[in-house]
Amino acid sequence: MRILFYDTKSYDETSFQEILKSFPGISIEFTKSDLDSRTAALAEGFDAVCAFVSSDVGTHTVEILHSKGIRLILMRCAGFNNVDLEAAAKYDIRVMRVPGYSPEAVAEHAMALALASNRRLHKAYNKVRENDFSLSGLMGFNFYQKTAGIIGTGKIGAAMCRICHGFGMKVIAYDVYQNESLKAFTEYVSLEKLLSDSDVISLHCPLTDDTFHIINIDTIRQMKDGVILVNTSRGALVKTNDLIEGIRMHKFAGVGLDVYEEETNNVFEDRSDEILEHSTTARLLSFPNVVITSHQGFFTKEALAAIAGTTLQNAVDFEAGKESANDVR
Ligand code: NAI
Repeated sequence: MRILFYDTKSYDETSFQEILKSFPGISIEFTKSDLDSRTAALAEGFDAVCAFVSSDVGTHTVEILHSKGIRLILMRCAGFNNVDLEAAAKYDIRVMRVPGYSPEAVAEHAMALALASNRRLHKAYNKVRENDFSLSGLMGFNFYQKTAGIIGTGKIGAAMCRICHGFGMKVIAYDVYQNESLKAFTEYVSLEKLLSDSDVISLHCPLTDDTFHIINIDTIRQMKDGVILVNTSRGALVKTNDLIEGIRMHKFAGVGLDVYEEETNNVFEDRSDEILEHSTTARLLSFPNVVITSHQGFFTKEALAAIAGTTLQNAVDFEAGKESANDVR
């Protein structure tokens, strides 16, 4: 099988090349172009395309892929809301994905953000580099024996519960479904109780109508003063302007964000003054107790290897005509 791999980053090429040795029937050609209706024609002569969350796999793209003989779209990510599934069904193109790769990768990054914002590692790093060895502005608090509140205890939230338990924290959680395997060390509580009792709050629920802006000025007011808030899930779980208001009210000891509402607007790729002036992310960055990373939670060797392995196994299952739990359609 010949796969055209769109939107290739150097780390994608490394992880897929590494695992390709175990899949002798597959060859991959890598292109830096992302998949959309302008680039779909490049797939002429290939059997499958490999795309990502950033790709535009809308109706027109699918039509062109079909006209070029593509039978399989391999999404190397969990999400597939950028794929027109109806169009894929119409042309009998199979769509497969990677539903989960390394929950620990994201949970460990969530804890890293909590610790970095608490102990002001971002400030400490810069101070020492500038030969300033004073400790002013760097005091944090112990996590040991404090309360961690985990919102959403699926794969990643469960990993976060285990990590917090390992730190000697009391772990409380809120979810619409309870995860039995966590109950030995996690107490499920109402959202209200989680907000009022937690010293560290970490968001691990998906973005849905129910969770959109779950962190807003009302829920922020219910939190303890000096709380740490971490979001590695989806930006729109947090209403950014309300978060800024909360930071101004000195509600938070620290805030760690791997995701934010403006993420998809390429705010920092297009650094025009006007955009930055109106950017809520830029405003967040101006606060000394806020640490922001660029959606890197998933970005570990193990997670990339798992993504590559599952994607190529999906291709093998397709060739063998096997149904798979990773089928989107
Ligand atoms: P999952 O589906 O295993 O778990 C989600 C949990 O949230 C489930 O237990 C579900 O019952 C719960 N939930 C659903 N609605 C809820 C509500 N209204 N209130 C409270 N809990 C609710 O998902 P997984 O794999 O743990 O991923 C969680 C999120 O992490 C994803 O939605 C994704 O947005 C984000 N993510 C972030 C990455 C990063 O690089 N920063 C990478 C991968 C995922």
